[in-house]
Amino acid sequence: MVAVVGAARCTSLVSGSDPGVQPRLRELHERLWAAYNDRTEMKRYYEVAEAVNAHWHPWTFHGVIRSLASQGMSVLDFGCGSGHAWENLRETGVRYTGIDWSKAQIEENHTQFRGQPVDFLAASLYEVPAPTGSFDLVISLYVLEHVVWPRQMLAEMVRLTKPGGMVAILCPHYRSMARMPSLPHGGPGSLRDKLRRGDLDAAAKHVWMRWYWPRTVRRQYPNQEVPWLINVTPAFLQEGWSVDNDAVYFVDRPECVSELKRNGATDITEAVLARFPEKLRRDKHVCFIVAEKE
Ligand SMILES: C[S@@+](CC[C@H](N)C(=O)[O-])C[C@H]1O[C@@H](n2cnc3c(N)ncnc32)[C@H](O)[C@@H]1O
Repeated sequence: MVAVVGAARCTSLVSGSDPGVQPRLRELHERLWAAYNDRTEMKRYYEVAEAVNAHWHPWTFHGVIRSLASQGMSVLDFGCGSGHAWENLRETGVRYTGIDWSKAQIEENHTQFRGQPVDFLAASLYEVPAPTGSFDLVISLYVLEHVVWPRQMLAEMVRLTKPGGMVAILCPHYRSMARMPSLPHGGPGSLRDKLRRGDLDAAAKHVWMRWYWPRTVRRQYPNQEVPWLINVTPAFLQEGWSVDNDAVYFVDRPECVSELKRNGATDITEAVLARFPEKLRRDKHVCFIVAEKE
């Protein structure tokens, strides 16, 4: 019981807009950079991401993103990882640039895609070394939830987009789910795994975070009043990697849309999704945004 109450309080969420938390965010940013650049730790990470996303089915959010690309367009992929976006966009005839802060992964991409019309850059997503308005389409796939300063990343995406060009973002919608996998669930694995090994403390934390904590978070962290929520102690940094336990931004779609607007890009997601199956529009677990730069 003590563990359950502990899990309820130990949420480690802070508002990224609070000037007082910036030193903690800087420290988190540095620890994440070191972890993403640890090749032993991250090799499996990229293999899993690649395996899950290798083929973009036409009637998925990935498929919608491919439908935005056409012959001759310049595409910038924020947090490109293994470069599976290029493999899925190649046939559209775009010119592709992938950017990621993992130097080893960028080197691997250079080797794997040598001789193809692509470019890969090892750099931070907060300060991309490219001129303003360089790209027709700027995309990010399952990246926004991993950044400590999402506002800066969104501003940078809009800055790099040409007027009339588009920004497309795909990631989990944690605000809508009111939970995220990097909060203390009693370690990696399912509830069944925890019960099977008789770890009741871990199982109790899991039940709390999965079913009860969402009500607490809705009450304690109202959307507009506590904006840009960041988990400053993601489980990843204590336990090693498991799927999405490295997420830090508690993604809130409305705040992202407002920020894009503030930077000069208007949400056109509904119009884009009108051509796609209804189930995509109803999916509340996904934050999908297409915005057009004015
Ligand atoms: C979950 S992976 C997604 C990779 C790829 N987009 C995909 O769909 O497979 C997140 C990626 O974002 C990169 N990343 C996270 N924060 C970053 C930052 N501040 N600057 C540059 N890259 C970052 C990581 O190195 C990692 O490759």
